[in-house]
Amino acid sequence: AVTRTFSIIKPDATRRNLTGAVTKMLEDAGLRVVASKRIQMTKEQAEGFYAVHKERPFFGELVDFMISGPVVVQVLEGEDAVKRNRDVMGATNPADAADGTIRKAFAESIEANSVHGSDSDENARIEIDFFFDEDEIVG
Ligand code: CMP
Repeated sequence: AVTRTFSIIKPDATRRNLTGAVTKMLEDAGLRVVASKRIQMTKEQAEGFYAVHKERPFFGELVDFMISGPVVVQVLEGEDAVKRNRDVMGATNPADAADGTIRKAFAESIEANSVHGSDSDENARIEIDFFFDEDEIVG
């Protein structure tokens, strides 16, 4: 089925002017960008977005990294979008990421790993709602 997922192009990638290169890999993987905006996340937004990780030892660093520069938040649409996006992103740790994936091509570290993608349809809906109003999404 055609579904939606949520993506973030992270500060390490925007800093290196890789917004277009990352988006091209998403599009080449069969995903369509149906909403996109470049934002500077606030600390409160980053803490809220990553609330599920708040007990993790890396939480503070992760929040600081995510507010260290602009990000591009996107809604992606396609056949089986969550899985399609996770496949093209590659493993969280770039050392484990397969050839041809975004993280293999661009990620600097497990933290500065260039992209975020939703891990389930349910979380995709929650994450899309966190950043977008329905009228900002144009399929
Ligand atoms: P993301 O898919 O955005 O979800 C949580 C993020 O936490 C993850 O990508 C990484 O950027 C970061 N992360 C995960 N594991 C670690 C770790 N061990 N150390 C630092 N950051 C991590």
